[in-house]
Amino acid sequence: MSLTRRIGIPIVKGIVWTLRRVDHYFLGSSALRADDDFRRDPYPSFEAIRHAPIVRSLANRGWIILGYEAVQEALRDTNLSNDLNNNPFYLRVARAASGGRPIPFVDNPPLLNLDPPAHTPLRRAISQRLTRGFVDALTPQIEDSARALVSRMVPPCDLIETVAEPLPVQVIADILGVHNTDQLAQWSHRMTNALRIAEADQVQDAADAEASMRCFVAKQLPDMLKINPESPISQLAQDPEVQERDVISTCVLLLTAGHETTTRLIANTIYILHHQRSVREAVVSGNLSLDNLIDEVLRLEPPVQMTLRFVRRSTTIAGRSLKPGQLVLINFAAANRDPAVFDNADRFEPGRNRPHLSFGYGIHLCLGAALAKLEARIAIKELLVAYPDFELHEPISWGNNQFFRGPETLTILT
Ligand code: HEM
Repeated sequence: MSLTRRIGIPIVKGIVWTLRRVDHYFLGSSALRADDDFRRDPYPSFEAIRHAPIVRSLANRGWIILGYEAVQEALRDTNLSNDLNNNPFYLRVARAASGGRPIPFVDNPPLLNLDPPAHTPLRRAISQRLTRGFVDALTPQIEDSARALVSRMVPPCDLIETVAEPLPVQVIADILGVHNTDQLAQWSHRMTNALRIAEADQVQDAADAEASMRCFVAKQLPDMLKINPESPISQLAQDPEVQERDVISTCVLLLTAGHETTTRLIANTIYILHHQRSVREAVVSGNLSLDNLIDEVLRLEPPVQMTLRFVRRSTTIAGRSLKPGQLVLINFAAANRDPAVFDNADRFEPGRNRPHLSFGYGIHLCLGAALAKLEARIAIKELLVAYPDFELHEPISWGNNQFFRGPETLTILT
């Protein structure tokens, strides 16, 4: 073989590998790339590729699921895996990107990234503690926190910095019995970049943040048990069937899942109340309940826009054959606007007769849905009591993480 050929093949392979690597996790479809228009309004891009409930994503040789029924079908299908260890391609790229550090959500997988049978007992143990009764009992405490945060606001100020973020961070830290909320929020922000494996420095930063959070939680665990033996985490730690590393992974998951999402739900609701005055008037006059408001915001602007699965064994979704190793992007945001299921799907019309899929579906259905909705209801109520005529600074800039949707800042002027 000639020297040029010997050098040429690895170079070509390297270029192809790099291109695929970048494309793979930047949503694998040119229609879904995160430019400014997409950040502002991703929904037309989803419609542009909605030729069927499930479409090919040729760039990553995978699939994008956009249809409501197809999303449910995929999330019921045990041939699809949530364990990132089941995808050799992802693993290879993430290992290279992480520079030898443990990869967040892979090396110490939390509940969300476990498949049955490992997932089943841990989910049962956690759901037995995060019950409806437990959440309802938090109401007075959340009301006090929200009222205190709103009373400290001095417009012009950022509603995310003053209310939408500190409230969920405070609530989840209280549930876990940990302090140091500023530090927790920072680690959590850095960890949400872990999926963006095309950016090696972000993956390494996410890995460092996860390691710091694990270390912090491990050190706090004895105190958590002593100070509040009845808390959900203390009870989990005392469960003989749950190992300590799972307790730590659960705390890390709750500290991130528990606030990144809820912050965005509160922010997205404020955005809709600002943008659609008739909706705000209906809430203030009592014609629209906070429950229905929050549910319709969740449908239209889901904080978690999509999730990933990997095909573990050959399967069929909405009539298409999926092959082992393929990536499946499950798009909740598109499913929530599926015209086959929702009339006037782009319009804010509360009281829909089908539920949205913003908390997922199937065995990984969100365990914090009731808590998130409670926090959002309370935050919005307190804000509207204090500032029924609020005005926001325009233009509003949206975050650039395609998996999580929410404005970066929401400056209240009056
Ligand atoms: C508006 C707020 C929230 C949204 C939109 C949301 C959304 C989701 C979604 C879509 C999933 C499933 C992901 C998948 O299947 O890949 C999920 C899972 C999960 N969520 Fe939430 N979440 C929210 C708030 C919370 C809160 C407040 C907590 C905790 C207190 C929480 C804890 C969890 C846990 C533990 C799981 C994993 C369940 C499992 O794997 O069995 N979430 N969430």
